[in-house]
Amino acid sequence: MGGESKVDGNRNGYVIVTAALPYANGEIHLGHVTSTYLPADIFSRYLKLKGRKVLYISGTDDHGTPILIQAEKEGIPPEELVRKWLSRDIEDFSKLGIEFSIFYKTHSPENIELTQRFFENIYKKGFIFKQEIEQWYCGNCKRFLPDRYVVGTCPFCGAENQYSDGCEVCGRAFPSYMIKEPKCIVCGSTPFLKESIHYFFKLSSFSDQLRGWLVSNSNLQPEVRNYVLKWIEDGLKDWDITRDISWGVPIPLNEKDAEGKVLYGWFDNHLGYIAFTYKYFRDHMGEEVDTRKIWNSSVIYHFIGKDIVYHHYLFLPAMRMAEGSFKLPDYLPTRGHLLLQNEKFSKSKGWYISLRNFLEIFPPDYLRFYLALTTPYSQKDVNFDWDDFQLKLNNELIANIGNFIHRVLTFTYSYFEGIVPEPSEMEELDLKFVDDLKQAVRDVGELMDEIKLDKALKRILDFSTSCNRYFQSSEPWGKRDKGKTCIYLSINAVRTLSILLWPFIPFTIEKLWNTLNIPKSFRNSSLISWSSVSELKIKPGHKINKPSVLFKRMDKEIMEQKEKFKKKH
Ligand code: MF3
Ligand code: ZN
Repeated sequence: MGGESKVDGNRNGYVIVTAALPYANGEIHLGHVTSTYLPADIFSRYLKLKGRKVLYISGTDDHGTPILIQAEKEGIPPEELVRKWLSRDIEDFSKLGIEFSIFYKTHSPENIELTQRFFENIYKKGFIFKQEIEQWYCGNCKRFLPDRYVVGTCPFCGAENQYSDGCEVCGRAFPSYMIKEPKCIVCGSTPFLKESIHYFFKLSSFSDQLRGWLVSNSNLQPEVRNYVLKWIEDGLKDWDITRDISWGVPIPLNEKDAEGKVLYGWFDNHLGYIAFTYKYFRDHMGEEVDTRKIWNSSVIYHFIGKDIVYHHYLFLPAMRMAEGSFKLPDYLPTRGHLLLQNEKFSKSKGWYISLRNFLEIFPPDYLRFYLALTTPYSQKDVNFDWDDFQLKLNNELIANIGNFIHRVLTFTYSYFEGIVPEPSEMEELDLKFVDDLKQAVRDVGELMDEIKLDKALKRILDFSTSCNRYFQSSEPWGKRDKGKTCIYLSINAVRTLSILLWPFIPFTIEKLWNTLNIPKSFRNSSLISWSSVSELKIKPGHKINKPSVLFKRMDKEIMEQKEKFKKKH
């Protein structure tokens, strides 16, 4: 009982698919795409083919210290910085064919209002308390220095130049006051500790409820569930949800202690999933629509990368439990990091590929294809390797899929004037091929329902291999009548393949639909839908258009990139 039962058992409701919100202070890179935006896009396209009402939702994560620091560095107000990144992200994503229903922002009236309402409700129920804590304060800048505003030496391993909230060298997280030799990141002077009142969320009171939810939700990936359960066993700490800065959602309390503070970015950002859904429905259906009701009757998927498991498996559900009116996610598909030639991405060392730069050189479908094929539904890291990229493109995308489609189309076009021939009686080889096709569709559908997108794509490649084999052994050249059956079935297999592949490589497939002379809009076409995918829908007499080349080899471009990313050791 995987995704199939849940999604299909709720046929009339919406499916809400969200992708973790990118911080509005830097560009989208291949790491973001691999773990989050591409899998969520492939999956929601698949649901669209199935005729489901899908919303694919994301937006920028605007608040918090990283944004403020970047804005100060650039000498612009944070509002301007986040506005700039919002439009830049939208451009980059659309070039990759990431099709959001809405891509909005956390610094929006909708999200600020929802966040304040959440705070008020949770506060009224007694899940928020105040506590005095010690915070770094810069006498020179005359302000508190939360999180990344302080760098210093790790109190555990002695590594220098670490942010005050954790050490990247030994991996430990610690409270800010523990850092040794602290320095203000803005002016370089030494800050001192000063008392400040902060608001805390009683995360610890939700240990039992969280455990119950983790254990009973069978859609969660077991490996992730197990280590989150371990964190709960180790004891959850109550969570500081305020910061002494001015950029963020104001604390909705009329009291002295709340002045000069805002809510922590991780308090408001994931509420964006809900707030953006509100925004979507208000824009499309007007004020009176009951978004909460829709939310609560939808199937909900939050796609994330493994670095934000803590926030999505603990903070997010606990906040919804405490507030009480919004349902928890059904699925939290979590994937690993992307390595570049087996090494961690590092922007500062130039060991890094931005989405924009990549797409200046390679077609979007090449990236989608390669990443979809190599990214498992698990926490395992994914390695981007130029040799492997070249191999997969040349051997699979081009020599397998491209070859079959091209042979069938050009054959039909030159031997039959582009008109699909009337088949003669089917022989065993033909009947077996039709069986293969049906089996492939069943397998792919099952794997897609389980979000095992890499395995689904591999299964499509296997099917394409058998298409090539069928075409080769039918020898349609020369034998007049037998040739007709082979072409009729092959053209239909091309249509089946096109539907199976559309979620993965939509640009190419939409071009192919032009050649096949079938309408591009699947919304009103029985020729393009999951329900008809294994039928022989293209009838004798149907005329196709002149085929064009779908894929070209990019050996030279790959060679150049290989040179650029030669290991330095
Ligand atoms: N901006 C965060 C990051 O990049 C992710 C926020 S996801 C949300 O790590 F749930 F908070 F929205
Ligand atoms: Zn300072």
